[in-house]
Amino acid sequence: MMSLLLDEVALAAARLAEAGVESPRTDAELIAASVHRVKRSELHTVPDSAFDAQFWADVARRAAREPLQHITGHAHFRYLELEVGPGVFVPRPETEVMTGWAIARLGEMDVAEPVVADLGTGSGAIALAIGQEVPRARVHAVEADPLAAAWAERNITRYVESAPYTAGRVMLHAGDFRDVLGELDGTVDLVISNPPYIPVGASVPPEVGEYDPPAALWSGADGLDAIRVVERTARRLLRPGGLVAVEHGATQGAAVYWVFPEESGWRDTRNNKDLAGRDRFVTSTWSGEGA
Ligand SMILES: C[S@@+](CC[C@H](N)C(=O)[O-])C[C@H]1O[C@@H](n2cnc3c(N)ncnc32)[C@H](O)[C@@H]1O
Repeated sequence: MMSLLLDEVALAAARLAEAGVESPRTDAELIAASVHRVKRSELHTVPDSAFDAQFWADVARRAAREPLQHITGHAHFRYLELEVGPGVFVPRPETEVMTGWAIARLGEMDVAEPVVADLGTGSGAIALAIGQEVPRARVHAVEADPLAAAWAERNITRYVESAPYTAGRVMLHAGDFRDVLGELDGTVDLVISNPPYIPVGASVPPEVGEYDPPAALWSGADGLDAIRVVERTARRLLRPGGLVAVEHGATQGAAVYWVFPEESGWRDTRNNKDLAGRDRFVTSTWSGEGA
């Protein structure tokens, strides 16, 4: 069924395509759905009289390459809807795959209340998804950037409000993942991290370079500085047999594999792919003894 709004969505999609937006039709539909507070599949039900200028104002922001999630104010991550905006990294679908790997491993673990550390939690996406899907887990979310930590706190609070029995199971720690959580040394069952991993000076789309916080993106000349810190912290935190999962860029699989060598006490280090079939995260098991 056609409607005035769907005509406008088609025009908006053309404008977004001209501006270089990667998925113009989807983004135009999601903006319209957000403005009219309906699902994307219900756009045809919006009465013509309900059309308003907010839609075109939001389309103009997207055409200027502001991320869709900053415009709608939220991002979807697995079964969660998270609040996001300036100052926090927008969670990505690639990270959902790594988080799913961790959730599956935690489900198999013969541990009553597995302890998890999410290093560089940003919006709280990974920590909250694990908290939601593995309710017996205790999840420690670490974030150094105060602006990002404020978004994580907001999302954790909303989550607990919606499911009060989860109170106290996802805990936020302000600090550098280099040296936090000393009280948990040698006791953590799973360390997971989507750290910054872009080499300084690499070119990124405007949505990333102008809107994701710098501390979430850049990580030294080869992009691996933060991943090396995650490896050292995982060695310190994990109990023997504990697991680590760390996300990386699509071309960094071989290099990150060697950040977790047997000589350092790692076993069964593996490269894992994202939904597009690209190398996306490395997993390994801590033997308990390492150089
Ligand atoms: C790529 S973002 C990922 C955010 C979130 N985990 C996600 O997947 O959406 C990396 C996050 O790590 C944080 N971060 C970077 N270095 C850190 C450090 N040394 N200690 C704690 N947090 C750090 C950044 O501020 C940023 O929020």
